[in-house]
Amino acid sequence: MTMQIVRSVADLRAALCGGPAPAFVPTMGNLHAGHLALIAQARAAASAGHPVVASIFVNRLQFAPHEDFDAYPRTFERDAELLAAQGCDLLFAPRESDLYPEPQDVKVHPPAALADVLEGAFRPGFFVGVCTVVAKLFNLVQPQWAVFGKKDYQQLMVIRHMARQLALNVEVLAGETCRADDGLALSSRNGYLSVEERAEAPFLAQTLRDLAAAVPAGPFDAAALERTAMDRLRARGWSPDYVALRQQDRLALPDATVAARPPLVVLAAARLGRTRLIDNLEIPAA
Ligand code: PAJ
Repeated sequence: MTMQIVRSVADLRAALCGGPAPAFVPTMGNLHAGHLALIAQARAAASAGHPVVASIFVNRLQFAPHEDFDAYPRTFERDAELLAAQGCDLLFAPRESDLYPEPQDVKVHPPAALADVLEGAFRPGFFVGVCTVVAKLFNLVQPQWAVFGKKDYQQLMVIRHMARQLALNVEVLAGETCRADDGLALSSRNGYLSVEERAEAPFLAQTLRDLAAAVPAGPFDAAALERTAMDRLRARGWSPDYVALRQQDRLALPDATVAARPPLVVLAAARLGRTRLIDNLEIPAA
């Protein structure tokens, strides 16, 4: 079956009207193997007869004025070919005037404890922009399943929280992080890296693996582990925004005194030259 491409909200509603609820993968395009794995996961999650829908929309609302909205790579033709080859049934690629025909002043504000920390602390308003566009896309696509990557771990947590609290009728599924052979998490922003920076970039994932290996099963000093990791990054020319050891559940601060270690995750954001990279690694309970 060939993939249908729709631009306008009216065409999207017409294409989906009365049909079985889709499995949905929202993206900002410039697709790589990580995105395509989410499409495969959506296909596997969807019961027979339910379509797989992807969206491509570079959402201005989640970019701060100084960020890379204009420079964000737009590779629509290639993306559409990749999606079709992956078995996507429908691609929704709205123009800005379709999704935001008037200033979007109704916005979804996720709670500060989840969304104003880590990424939210360094990118104020980021998760308001993400939640607002995802809520809007969910309303348009009305998916039964939606797949988000663990690469953006906090985003996944924030979306899950929003879906639960707003009683959205969608099952939010998590896709594992897709990595290059050298460990670098695939990202559209990797394309900004120079040859030298690309060679250095896997050190971020290495730092997370080393930190994870250093967390003992018993009580531990999270702040000291985080500091060591940040110092190692700085020593190699990185500018880390944060390296943070958190509980997987609600990204709560770890209680380092408990004997039984709960499932943890270490999250990091760091700049290498002008490129800001994020990554994370789950650490199972001990
Ligand atoms: P984008 O960065 O294009 O990512 C789209 C989806 O792909 C997200 O769920 C993201 O977590 C996932 N993804 C990115 N890199 C991945 C990798 N290496 N392995 C697995 N999954 C990966 O995230 C966004 O767009 C936007 O914020 C969006 C949710 C579309 C809202 O605008």
